[in-house]
Amino acid sequence: MVPTTSLLLLLGLALLAPGLSADQCDLTGNWTNDLGSNMTIGKLSSNGEFAGTYITAVTTTKKEIKASPMVGTQHSNTQPTFGFTVNWNFTDSTTVFTGQCFVDEHGKEILKTMWLLRSHADSIDDNWKATRVGINTFTRRAEVME
Ligand code: BTN
Repeated sequence: MVPTTSLLLLLGLALLAPGLSADQCDLTGNWTNDLGSNMTIGKLSSNGEFAGTYITAVTTTKKEIKASPMVGTQHSNTQPTFGFTVNWNFTDSTTVFTGQCFVDEHGKEILKTMWLLRSHADSIDDNWKATRVGINTFTRRAEVME
């Protein structure tokens, strides 16, 4: 009787185990979002800080788009929340992103984010219209083989 119960318990554990362990999601690497913007994030420091480069596909300005620096931090759990700031170097606006790194049902990493884009206001009277809000979804960018 006891061996049968133990066997059933083991079988149950074996079936449940894959659903219990989530794969690690971390931000290091190349990402592209639903607008076609690209970002590259370097190695995480021991306290979860990172830096990288962001090339936006779109702009609110008429200026020529240039790769801009970004810095951020992420938590160290398997599907961590994070935040990063892009300091646009071709114009005087700033975007902050916050989100979470998920591993979907196919094992694919996906970043679900919300952002605030703060444009420069020429006067305090224009402050009310200087911030836009939106969402972006990022997936890993496929490496091009040379
Ligand atoms: C600007 O136009 O003031 C600077 C570029 C802003 C690009 C925004 S940031 C939020 C959204 N997501 C992107 O990938 N690009 C746009």
